[in-house]
Amino acid sequence: NPPNLQMGEGSVLERSSCRAKGGAPGFKVAILGAAGGIGQPLAMLMKMNPLVSVLHLYDVVNAPGVTADISHMDTGAVVRGFLGQSELEAALTGMDLVIIPAGIPRKPGMTRDDLFKNNAGIVRTLCEGIAKCCPNAIVNLISNPVNSTVPIAAEVFKKAGTYDPKKLLGVTSLDVVRANTFVAEVLGLDPREVDVPVVGGHAGVTILPLLSQVKPPCSFTQEETEYLTKRIQDGGTEVVEAKKGAGSATLSMAYAAVKFADACLKGLRGDAGVVACAFVASQVTELPFFASKVRLGRTGAEEVYQLGPLNEYERIGLVKAKKELAESIQKGVSFIRN
Ligand code: NAD
Ligand code: LMR
Repeated sequence: NPPNLQMGEGSVLERSSCRAKGGAPGFKVAILGAAGGIGQPLAMLMKMNPLVSVLHLYDVVNAPGVTADISHMDTGAVVRGFLGQSELEAALTGMDLVIIPAGIPRKPGMTRDDLFKNNAGIVRTLCEGIAKCCPNAIVNLISNPVNSTVPIAAEVFKKAGTYDPKKLLGVTSLDVVRANTFVAEVLGLDPREVDVPVVGGHAGVTILPLLSQVKPPCSFTQEETEYLTKRIQDGGTEVVEAKKGAGSATLSMAYAAVKFADACLKGLRGDAGVVACAFVASQVTELPFFASKVRLGRTGAEEVYQLGPLNEYERIGLVKAKKELAESIQKGVSFIRN
């Protein structure tokens, strides 16, 4: 039944968001922008996630093709495709988690903020759909500039009367993934054993790795600290330049997005002690949004953790991060209010 492939539908699928075909526990997840560079590997990895019972793939192009392809994987989740604005509501209705990688990526020489004029409107439209069709869903927002698109989403939800700050999460997990990798390289460790908190936001100096809080406990020379901080802050640009105009990080992003989405789903399921970094409504600083570690539970980000003790280098970084973040947040808020 293309273009809206209703693969493997059965009455049991419509009954509950927590029961998959065959009775396995599972959640309903939508990916908006599912045919893109991030969207496709993200869709593949979510189809492999046993916590997902239903996977809705929405895009303005090529959603039926990606859906047909992914739906042949012999994993539990039932996949349905949705193409174009007229199918957005059907894509969103009943969802527990909505992941948004829709929008254009950077080319060399651009900042993430240069994407605002294109992506702000896309995020607004998609969030209006969420407010209408699945106002209780957890939202994982990937589209750049995250420092502005999260405030845009919050304003859309406030306007619609559906805003729950715990449920809106800007995805910064790629910064943590990169930080773990680069720190592990310097320390000569397996990256899976390393945990680096990355706070602030998701652009340049707003990305603030807290190298003084790395686990396992370790110390860095000033030279190592400067090298690692810069490499983590410029990780996205490193990929944009290597791709020479063909886009930005997609595969590592899909991996990082799935890691984060999986944490959100485990929280929704009621697992204890699920903690990850995300850009959320926050009282950790004077800014209304800030990335830090959060505890994910049945209702989303149920606890936002304080930053903990910072060293002098990190305190200086925090001042710079907050200055740029304040402007990016205001830009997002104004886009909806004015
Ligand atoms: P892409 O161009 O490959 O894919 C974007 C997809 O969005 C396309 O399939 C396009 O058709 C779709 N799209 C456009 N308008 C849409 C709409 N109105 N509704 C639904 N879908 C729509 O780009 P990409 O490489 O996948 O990157 C997507 C976004 O993610 C970019 O803004 C990029 O900067 C951002 N990104 C964020 C992070 C992060 O860490 N948060 C990391 C990497 C990329
Ligand atoms: C990233 O960090 O890779 C993304 O934000 C994409 C980009 O533009 O750098």
